[in-house]
Amino acid sequence: MQNISENSGSIVAPRHLAIIMDGNGRWAKNREKPRVSGHREGAKAVRRVITACAQLGVQELTLFAFSSENWKRPSLEVNALMTLFVESIKRESSSLKENGIRTKIVGDISRFSPTLQEQIHKVEQLTADCSLMNLNIAANYGGRWDILQACKQLTEKCMEGQLAVDDLTEADLSQVLSVSKDVDLMIRTGGEKRISNFLMWQAAYAELYFSNTLWPDYDKEDLLEAFAFFNGRERRFGMTSAQVQNKEVKDAN
Ligand code: FPP
Repeated sequence: MQNISENSGSIVAPRHLAIIMDGNGRWAKNREKPRVSGHREGAKAVRRVITACAQLGVQELTLFAFSSENWKRPSLEVNALMTLFVESIKRESSSLKENGIRTKIVGDISRFSPTLQEQIHKVEQLTADCSLMNLNIAANYGGRWDILQACKQLTEKCMEGQLAVDDLTEADLSQVLSVSKDVDLMIRTGGEKRISNFLMWQAAYAELYFSNTLWPDYDKEDLLEAFAFFNGRERRFGMTSAQVQNKEVKDAN
Protein backbone atom coordinates (compact mmCIF):
# COMPACT_ATOMS: atom_id res chain seq x y z
CA MET A 1 0.00 0.00 0.00
CA GLN A 2 1.08 3.51 -0.66
CA ASN A 3 0.76 6.39 1.78
CA ILE A 4 -0.65 9.52 0.29
CA SER A 5 -1.51 12.94 1.53
CA GLU A 6 -4.80 14.20 0.26
CA ASN A 7 -7.10 17.05 1.17
CA SER A 8 -8.83 14.85 3.73
CA GLY A 9 -5.58 14.02 5.55
CA SER A 10 -3.40 10.98 5.17
CA ILE A 11 -5.23 8.25 3.34
CA VAL A 12 -4.01 4.81 2.42
CA ALA A 13 -5.27 3.72 -0.96
CA PRO A 14 -6.08 0.04 -1.46
CA ARG A 15 -3.56 -1.64 -3.71
CA HIS A 16 -6.24 -3.42 -5.72
CA LEU A 17 -9.62 -1.73 -5.90
CA ALA A 18 -12.57 -3.42 -7.62
CA ILE A 19 -15.80 -1.57 -8.40
CA ILE A 20 -19.24 -2.85 -9.35
CA MET A 21 -20.63 0.16 -11.18
CA ASP A 22 -24.37 0.02 -10.55
CA GLY A 23 -27.20 2.51 -10.86
CA ASN A 24 -26.94 3.85 -14.41
CA GLY A 25 -30.50 2.82 -15.25
CA ARG A 26 -31.97 4.39 -12.11
CA TRP A 27 -29.98 7.57 -12.66
CA ALA A 28 -31.59 7.86 -16.10
CA LYS A 29 -35.06 6.89 -14.84
CA ASN A 30 -34.90 9.59 -12.15
CA ARG A 31 -34.44 12.10 -14.97
CA GLU A 32 -37.04 10.50 -17.25
CA LYS A 33 -34.30 9.74 -19.76
CA PRO A 34 -33.61 6.48 -21.62
CA ARG A 35 -31.38 3.98 -19.80
CA VAL A 36 -28.62 4.46 -22.33
CA SER A 37 -28.15 8.08 -21.25
CA GLY A 38 -27.37 6.69 -17.77
CA HIS A 39 -24.67 4.50 -19.32
CA ARG A 40 -23.25 7.48 -21.22
CA GLU A 41 -23.09 9.49 -18.00
CA GLY A 42 -21.61 6.37 -16.36
CA ALA A 43 -18.77 6.47 -18.88
CA LYS A 44 -17.93 9.99 -17.63
CA ALA A 45 -17.80 8.65 -14.07
CA VAL A 46 -15.45 5.89 -15.28
CA ARG A 47 -13.06 8.57 -16.54
CA ARG A 48 -13.32 10.56 -13.25
CA VAL A 49 -12.69 7.50 -11.12
CA ILE A 50 -9.73 6.24 -13.18
CA THR A 51 -8.11 9.68 -12.88
CA ALA A 52 -8.79 9.86 -9.14
CA CYS A 53 -7.48 6.34 -8.51
CA ALA A 54 -4.25 7.09 -10.38
CA GLN A 55 -3.81 10.29 -8.32
CA LEU A 56 -4.57 8.55 -5.04
CA GLY A 57 -2.05 5.76 -5.54
CA VAL A 58 -4.23 2.77 -6.39
CA GLN A 59 -1.99 0.22 -8.11
CA GLU A 60 -4.68 -1.85 -9.76
CA LEU A 61 -8.28 -0.93 -10.56
CA THR A 62 -10.80 -3.47 -11.85
CA LEU A 63 -14.15 -2.15 -13.11
CA PHE A 64 -17.17 -4.36 -13.80
CA ALA A 65 -18.46 -2.97 -17.11
CA PHE A 66 -20.50 -5.87 -18.50
CA SER A 67 -21.26 -9.20 -16.88
CA SER A 68 -21.70 -12.56 -18.63
CA GLU A 69 -25.35 -12.21 -17.61
CA ASN A 70 -25.87 -8.72 -19.08
CA TRP A 71 -26.53 -10.23 -22.55
CA LYS A 72 -30.04 -10.94 -21.19
CA ARG A 73 -30.86 -7.20 -21.31
CA PRO A 74 -32.95 -5.78 -24.17
CA SER A 75 -30.91 -5.87 -27.38
CA LEU A 76 -31.26 -2.11 -27.79
CA GLU A 77 -29.47 -1.57 -24.48
CA VAL A 78 -26.82 -4.23 -25.17
CA ASN A 79 -26.07 -2.70 -28.60
CA ALA A 80 -25.86 0.78 -27.11
CA LEU A 81 -23.41 -0.47 -24.48
CA MET A 82 -21.25 -2.13 -27.16
CA THR A 83 -21.17 1.12 -29.16
CA LEU A 84 -20.27 3.02 -26.00
CA PHE A 85 -17.39 0.62 -25.28
CA VAL A 86 -15.98 1.05 -28.81
CA GLU A 87 -16.34 4.85 -28.65
CA SER A 88 -14.88 5.09 -25.13
CA ILE A 89 -11.83 2.96 -25.92
CA LYS A 90 -11.20 4.91 -29.14
CA ARG A 91 -11.55 8.26 -27.37
CA GLU A 92 -9.54 7.42 -24.25
CA SER A 93 -6.68 5.26 -25.62
CA SER A 94 -4.11 8.02 -26.05
CA SER A 95 -4.98 9.60 -22.71
CA LEU A 96 -4.59 6.23 -20.96
CA LYS A 97 -1.17 5.85 -22.57
CA GLU A 98 -0.09 9.41 -21.67
CA ASN A 99 -1.13 8.88 -18.07
CA GLY A 100 0.74 5.60 -17.68
CA ILE A 101 -2.33 3.41 -17.29
CA ARG A 102 -1.84 -0.13 -18.48
CA THR A 103 -5.23 -1.25 -19.74
CA LYS A 104 -6.56 -4.78 -20.12
CA ILE A 105 -10.04 -5.99 -20.95
CA VAL A 106 -10.74 -9.09 -18.91
CA GLY A 107 -13.50 -11.55 -19.76
CA ASP A 108 -14.52 -13.67 -22.72
CA ILE A 109 -14.05 -11.12 -25.50
CA SER A 110 -14.65 -13.70 -28.26
CA ARG A 111 -18.38 -12.84 -28.23
CA PHE A 112 -17.74 -9.18 -29.07
CA SER A 113 -17.86 -7.74 -32.59
CA PRO A 114 -14.62 -7.77 -34.63
CA THR A 115 -14.56 -3.94 -34.34
CA LEU A 116 -14.70 -4.03 -30.54
CA GLN A 117 -12.14 -6.83 -30.38
CA GLU A 118 -9.82 -4.80 -32.60
CA GLN A 119 -10.15 -1.73 -30.33
CA ILE A 120 -9.45 -3.93 -27.32
CA HIS A 121 -6.25 -5.33 -28.85
CA LYS A 122 -5.16 -1.83 -29.87
CA VAL A 123 -5.52 -0.26 -26.42
CA GLU A 124 -3.88 -3.26 -24.75
CA GLN A 125 -0.89 -3.07 -27.09
CA LEU A 126 -0.66 0.72 -26.87
CA THR A 127 -0.55 0.73 -23.06
CA ALA A 128 1.39 -2.51 -22.52
CA ASP A 129 4.51 -0.66 -21.24
CA CYS A 130 2.62 1.66 -18.87
CA SER A 131 3.41 1.28 -15.21
CA LEU A 132 1.62 3.91 -13.09
CA MET A 133 -1.56 1.89 -12.60
CA ASN A 134 -3.11 -1.29 -14.00
CA LEU A 135 -6.67 -0.89 -15.23
CA ASN A 136 -8.79 -3.98 -15.87
CA ILE A 137 -12.14 -3.50 -17.54
CA ALA A 138 -14.22 -6.61 -16.91
CA ALA A 139 -16.44 -7.18 -19.95
CA ASN A 140 -18.42 -10.33 -20.65
CA TYR A 141 -16.91 -11.34 -17.34
CA GLY A 142 -18.16 -13.67 -14.62
CA GLY A 143 -16.24 -14.87 -11.58
CA ARG A 144 -17.32 -18.47 -12.15
CA TRP A 145 -16.32 -18.24 -15.81
CA ASP A 146 -12.90 -16.99 -14.70
CA ILE A 147 -12.38 -19.87 -12.26
CA LEU A 148 -13.53 -22.38 -14.89
CA GLN A 149 -11.24 -21.02 -17.62
CA ALA A 150 -8.39 -21.07 -15.11
CA CYS A 151 -9.14 -24.72 -14.27
CA LYS A 152 -9.09 -25.55 -17.98
CA GLN A 153 -5.67 -23.91 -18.34
CA LEU A 154 -4.32 -25.80 -15.34
CA THR A 155 -5.72 -29.09 -16.67
CA GLU A 156 -3.92 -28.50 -19.97
CA LYS A 157 -0.67 -27.68 -18.19
CA CYS A 158 -0.99 -30.90 -16.18
CA MET A 159 -1.78 -32.94 -19.28
CA GLU A 160 1.27 -31.47 -21.03
CA GLY A 161 3.40 -32.36 -18.01
CA GLN A 162 4.23 -28.74 -17.10
CA LEU A 163 2.57 -29.10 -13.69
CA ALA A 164 1.79 -32.08 -11.46
CA VAL A 165 -1.77 -32.38 -10.14
CA ASP A 166 -0.60 -33.23 -6.62
CA ASP A 167 1.62 -30.15 -6.47
CA LEU A 168 -0.99 -27.63 -7.59
CA THR A 169 -1.24 -24.60 -5.32
CA GLU A 170 -3.63 -21.69 -4.91
CA ALA A 171 -0.91 -19.50 -6.42
CA ASP A 172 -0.95 -21.66 -9.57
CA LEU A 173 -4.66 -21.01 -9.95
CA SER A 174 -4.33 -17.28 -9.23
CA GLN A 175 -1.71 -17.02 -11.93
CA VAL A 176 -4.04 -18.25 -14.67
CA LEU A 177 -7.06 -16.20 -13.63
CA SER A 178 -7.73 -13.22 -15.87
CA VAL A 179 -7.02 -10.99 -12.86
CA SER A 180 -4.32 -12.46 -10.62
CA LYS A 181 -4.00 -10.04 -7.71
CA ASP A 182 -6.23 -10.35 -4.65
CA VAL A 183 -8.73 -7.54 -4.23
CA ASP A 184 -8.22 -5.32 -1.16
CA LEU A 185 -11.40 -3.26 -1.40
CA MET A 186 -14.55 -3.96 -3.41
CA ILE A 187 -17.04 -1.12 -3.83
CA ARG A 188 -20.56 -1.52 -5.15
CA THR A 189 -22.49 1.62 -5.98
CA GLY A 190 -26.25 2.00 -6.36
CA GLY A 191 -27.33 0.60 -3.00
CA GLU A 192 -27.52 -3.14 -3.71
CA LYS A 193 -25.54 -5.44 -1.43
CA ARG A 194 -24.38 -8.26 -3.70
CA ILE A 195 -21.14 -9.36 -5.33
CA SER A 196 -22.96 -10.52 -8.49
CA ASN A 197 -20.38 -13.07 -9.65
CA PHE A 198 -17.54 -10.53 -9.76
CA LEU A 199 -13.96 -11.66 -8.93
CA MET A 200 -15.21 -14.56 -6.78
CA TRP A 201 -11.74 -16.00 -6.08
CA GLN A 202 -9.82 -12.74 -5.94
CA ALA A 203 -12.23 -11.10 -3.46
CA ALA A 204 -11.93 -13.87 -0.86
CA TYR A 205 -10.47 -11.41 1.68
CA ALA A 206 -11.66 -8.13 0.23
CA GLU A 207 -13.25 -5.49 2.41
CA LEU A 208 -16.72 -4.78 1.03
CA TYR A 209 -18.11 -1.26 0.77
CA PHE A 210 -21.63 -0.52 -0.42
CA SER A 211 -22.46 3.02 -1.49
CA ASN A 212 -25.92 4.41 -2.18
CA THR A 213 -24.54 6.80 -4.79
CA LEU A 214 -25.70 5.92 -8.30
CA TRP A 215 -22.69 5.25 -10.53
CA PRO A 216 -23.08 8.28 -12.85
CA ASP A 217 -22.84 10.55 -9.75
CA TYR A 218 -19.81 8.76 -8.29
CA ASP A 219 -16.77 11.01 -7.83
CA LYS A 220 -13.52 11.46 -5.96
CA GLU A 221 -15.27 12.43 -2.72
CA ASP A 222 -17.21 9.15 -2.77
CA LEU A 223 -13.96 7.32 -3.41
CA LEU A 224 -12.27 9.04 -0.46
CA GLU A 225 -15.19 8.03 1.78
CA ALA A 226 -14.71 4.41 0.72
CA PHE A 227 -10.97 4.64 1.32
CA ALA A 228 -11.59 6.13 4.80
CA PHE A 229 -13.81 3.11 5.54
CA PHE A 230 -11.05 0.83 4.23
CA ASN A 231 -8.48 2.56 6.44
CA GLY A 232 -10.65 1.90 9.48
CA ARG A 233 -10.82 -1.85 8.88
CA GLU A 234 -8.54 -4.30 10.64
CA ARG A 235 -7.63 -6.92 8.06
CA ARG A 236 -7.02 -10.11 10.00
CA PHE A 237 -6.77 -12.79 7.29
CA GLY A 238 -7.85 -15.42 9.82
CA MET A 239 -5.55 -14.24 12.63
CA THR A 240 -6.55 -12.66 15.92
CA SER A 241 -6.64 -8.92 16.40
CA ALA A 242 -3.68 -9.16 18.83
CA GLN A 243 -1.60 -11.01 16.27
CA VAL A 244 -2.36 -8.43 13.63
CA GLN A 245 -1.36 -5.62 15.95
CA ASN A 246 1.83 -7.49 16.89
CA LYS A 247 0.71 -7.55 20.51
CA GLU A 248 1.85 -10.30 22.80
CA VAL A 249 -0.66 -13.13 22.50
CA LYS A 250 -1.68 -14.35 25.93
CA ASP A 251 -2.85 -17.91 25.49
CA ALA A 252 -6.23 -18.19 27.13
CA ASN A 253 -6.12 -21.99 27.27
C1 FPP B 1 -25.05 -1.20 -14.17
O1 FPP B 1 -26.06 -0.27 -14.01
C2 FPP B 1 -24.15 -0.80 -15.26
C3 FPP B 1 -23.84 -1.54 -16.36
C4 FPP B 1 -24.38 -2.88 -16.59
C5 FPP B 1 -22.96 -1.01 -17.42
C6 FPP B 1 -21.72 -0.30 -16.95
C7 FPP B 1 -21.28 0.58 -18.04
C8 FPP B 1 -20.77 1.81 -17.88
C9 FPP B 1 -20.45 2.41 -16.58
C10 FPP B 1 -20.56 2.63 -19.11
C11 FPP B 1 -19.25 2.71 -19.72
C12 FPP B 1 -18.19 1.81 -19.28
C13 FPP B 1 -16.94 1.85 -19.80
C14 FPP B 1 -15.92 0.92 -19.31
C15 FPP B 1 -16.58 2.82 -20.85
P1 FPP B 1 -27.58 -0.70 -14.31
O2 FPP B 1 -27.84 -0.45 -15.73
O3 FPP B 1 -27.76 -2.11 -13.86
O4 FPP B 1 -28.35 0.29 -13.39
P2 FPP B 1 -29.74 0.03 -12.62
O5 FPP B 1 -29.47 -1.03 -11.57
O6 FPP B 1 -30.03 1.35 -12.01
O7 FPP B 1 -30.75 -0.39 -13.64
